[in-house]
Amino acid sequence: MDMTGEPYAPTSNGDEPRISVKSLWKVFGKNPGQVLTAEHAGKSKSEILEKLGCVVALQDVNFEVARGETFVVMGLSGSGKSTLIRCLIRLVEPTAGEISVDGEDILRYRGKHLTQFRRKKVAMVFQHFGLLPHRTIIENVAWGLEVQGIDKRHRRALAQEVVEQVGLKGWEDAFPGVLSGGMQQRVGLARALAVDPEILLMDEPFSALDPLIRREMQDEMVLLQERINKTIVFITHDLDEALKLGDRIAIMRDGMIIQLGIPEEIVHSPADSYVEEFTQGISKTRVMGAASIMQEPDAVVFPWQGPRIALRAMKTHDLGHAFVVDSSKRLQGVITEDQAAAAVARGITSFQGTDLINPDICPIVSPDTSIDDLVRLAAETRCPIAVVNDEGRLLGVVPRAALLSSLAEDKRIQTREEADSPA
Ligand SMILES: Nc1ncnc2c1ncn2[C@@H]1O[C@H](COP(=O)(O)OP(=O)(O)O)[C@@H](O)[C@H]1O
Ligand SMILES: [Mg+2]
Repeated sequence: MDMTGEPYAPTSNGDEPRISVKSLWKVFGKNPGQVLTAEHAGKSKSEILEKLGCVVALQDVNFEVARGETFVVMGLSGSGKSTLIRCLIRLVEPTAGEISVDGEDILRYRGKHLTQFRRKKVAMVFQHFGLLPHRTIIENVAWGLEVQGIDKRHRRALAQEVVEQVGLKGWEDAFPGVLSGGMQQRVGLARALAVDPEILLMDEPFSALDPLIRREMQDEMVLLQERINKTIVFITHDLDEALKLGDRIAIMRDGMIIQLGIPEEIVHSPADSYVEEFTQGISKTRVMGAASIMQEPDAVVFPWQGPRIALRAMKTHDLGHAFVVDSSKRLQGVITEDQAAAAVARGITSFQGTDLINPDICPIVSPDTSIDDLVRLAAETRCPIAVVNDEGRLLGVVPRAALLSSLAEDKRIQTREEADSPA
């Protein structure tokens, strides 16, 4: 498929990307450059291995990561994820291509430059923690600061702060060996955070943990990222994890990125059967937000238009409620058909200065509210759910019917998958 188009559209805030990777290749083996010659262009990974004895770990990888973005890389074992993340910190030297960080070509870094880059700008968290067994937790966390030459008191204070951030208070003087896997990885995370890097590289950090601990760590990671707002490249082979953490997800196969998109795109329109296999069994209602099923609000009136106009709007669209918004489309409340009719009978001509609008009877949600949460809300009210943006402007409504049909579709997909699966 053509990977030169849309997926690399600049990320939302329009700033220069934090990380930019262009046409990145990594070939392991003798004379790796030969793989890149015209003669071998377009050959598959297995052909190259057979003919040239070289392993193509990355081929023509392109992507950008925005500041503060969590960029998830997902793929089966051997697809090139670790090679990719290691290239970003120059633990693996690319065979060809460009990597720039904040506009600087990091492949040119030598000596002191490279050391500085690794000590301060980026930090890595590995799957197998890599803690120093004979050092206490706080000493492990302070390790990167020690390497930077920061004096003992100062580094202890900095380390203490991150130890608390990752929920390890009280464990400062313990040794890694007495900690559970989940706790050890908190230390790994704290150690990376202690140097206050701009970029956090995480290579399957939770893959070795039990599922429950793993989920807990994922949830905490989401909360932590809200506070620290680092640029994160996060590797996983678990779609649940990718969907939970990723602002965008890149899917790798045989060293190539075969799809790159926001979680909804990956789940909703998998690029091919490989991606589809990852996404099978994922309940779409879990990831699709309110924005994906909301509808244009039909019965909307301004306060000065009053109950008669509201009633007519409801009749026209065969609805039992009308939304009242101000001139900036900010939601003021809802009026029901009965209330509007009663107000008309009393000769009321405007909602302004009246208490006729109910601000509380309709649930108000943000566009990214999950459908599961919408279902819970819908069960508690007869009123349609209003979807509003940060400024309180009415973006759309989720009528019960739309909710039900999205659930029905989800059910059909699941049933089909159950029927397809051999078990
Ligand atoms: N040092 C190496 N020497 C030779 N081949 C390697 C080396 N490191 C990784 N590979 C190969 O590169 C490919 C990608 O590996 P890797 O990046 O570790 O994948 P992942 O992290 O997705 O499991 C695999 O085929 C692997 O065998
Ligand atoms: Mg790996």
